[in-house]
Amino acid sequence: MKWYHLLTYGCQMNELDSEKMAGMLEENGWEKAENLEKADLIILNTCCVRAKAEDKVKGKLGQLKKLKIEKPDLLIGIGGCMMQQENVGQKFLQQFPFVDFIFGPHTMDRLNEIVEKSCTGRVLEIEADRFDVPRLPIKRESSFRAWVSIIKGCENFCSYCIVPYVRGREVSRPLEEIIDEVKEHVENGGKEVVLLGQNVNAYGRDSGRVDFARLLERTDRVPGLERLRFMTSHPRDFPLELVQALVEMPRVCEHLHLPIQAGSNRILQKMNRGYTREDYLKLVEFIREKIPGASITTDIIVGFPGETDSDFADTMDVVEKARFASAFTFLYSPREGTPAARYSEQVPHSIKRKRLDYLMSRQNQISLEYNQALIGKMEEVLVEGPSKKDSEFYMGRTRTNRPVIFSGPAEKGALKPVKITSCNAHTLYGDLQEDSAHE
Ligand code: SAH
Ligand code: SF4
Ligand code: F3S
Repeated sequence: MKWYHLLTYGCQMNELDSEKMAGMLEENGWEKAENLEKADLIILNTCCVRAKAEDKVKGKLGQLKKLKIEKPDLLIGIGGCMMQQENVGQKFLQQFPFVDFIFGPHTMDRLNEIVEKSCTGRVLEIEADRFDVPRLPIKRESSFRAWVSIIKGCENFCSYCIVPYVRGREVSRPLEEIIDEVKEHVENGGKEVVLLGQNVNAYGRDSGRVDFARLLERTDRVPGLERLRFMTSHPRDFPLELVQALVEMPRVCEHLHLPIQAGSNRILQKMNRGYTREDYLKLVEFIREKIPGASITTDIIVGFPGETDSDFADTMDVVEKARFASAFTFLYSPREGTPAARYSEQVPHSIKRKRLDYLMSRQNQISLEYNQALIGKMEEVLVEGPSKKDSEFYMGRTRTNRPVIFSGPAEKGALKPVKITSCNAHTLYGDLQEDSAHE
């Protein structure tokens, strides 16, 4: 038996890539090792969107170096976005002599070949962008939820972001291939599909055949599918007609992730986002009108170069007006090779930190108020399994993507009514209601 272990950093795109790597390795006779110690092959799937993601990888390599001393036959490989940056692969091979192979998102489909080659010598296999999306076997982590990639790459070039440089041009997958993958998932007992892309709304723009709305309509009609989600949407490319169309799609969940990034028009422009705060708030208002109870979540960057107190006040003002159900908040992290990293007015760390703390505490309060309003209500929960913290309880998600901890027992992948009894800012707690209509 040969054992592999994958460590994944970064976004859902990387989670899915890791599932593909697992699929390829298992086709080639490898088996999943539950921990690092048991593994004969360890692969790090890296992210470089912020310095923190890179630091985590470097920290892990320290631990792997020790493992390799104890077990010299162990193979160690690094893939993912971080390796796709200019000269980073080369640098890593020099800096970490115990690493056996390095590859990137554009050479991932050759993983088995790369692993084999690395048995006889160190391998660096990085390629520039490519214009096809190879169909690879997928070993899904979840039996009921499937990530389905619909478009690769990003061409938005937000001025702070490294993703377009490492993930390349936008290439949409053919519609029928996506629908087949969704059907296959449902036939295998799947309940939920998350359509993935850095900017899903750009779907079809490169091929010019079908657009995102049409893809959603088709997916929504796949028999047996219960829940349909998509991420990430760019607010600039989210026309009001699309909101209107979603109303007619019963499987599409009442959750929209719409990263605003900043609330000041001056900063939004410097970020190259292509919308104003007014455009964004209009979209939010329209969603609230058409999809009552919808949960709108966002990403916000604090401390973009040149951000003044007044710009930050604008961000806080949008937070108050839009009332996000939750928000991922980040300190701006300069990324080499992006325009914003070269801007002269970098904001000192202490100011960034203060602003982030203030934003987080205010957003937590809003998230808590949202959750409190659900106490006493019944929610349909898709059961994910026993709770990680306490196996006496179960964990699932509402259609609005809120995690719920509840008293079981309940079968993984089942849809169950749960009465919400208490909450904090991030989690709902409740009791399972036996309802034969849901069996
Ligand atoms: N395509 C998606 C996700 C991109 S990465 C989107 O456009 O939303 C996820 C989030 O990371 C971004 O939304 C942004 O908020 C954050 N991010 C990207 N680059 C960053 C940087 N240099 N510093 C801090 N946060 C960053
Ligand atoms: Fe990065 Fe902007 Fe593309 Fe998102 S849309 S991946 S933030 S460049
Ligand atoms: Fe990170 Fe790459 Fe995703 S840089 S955020 S793993 S696309």
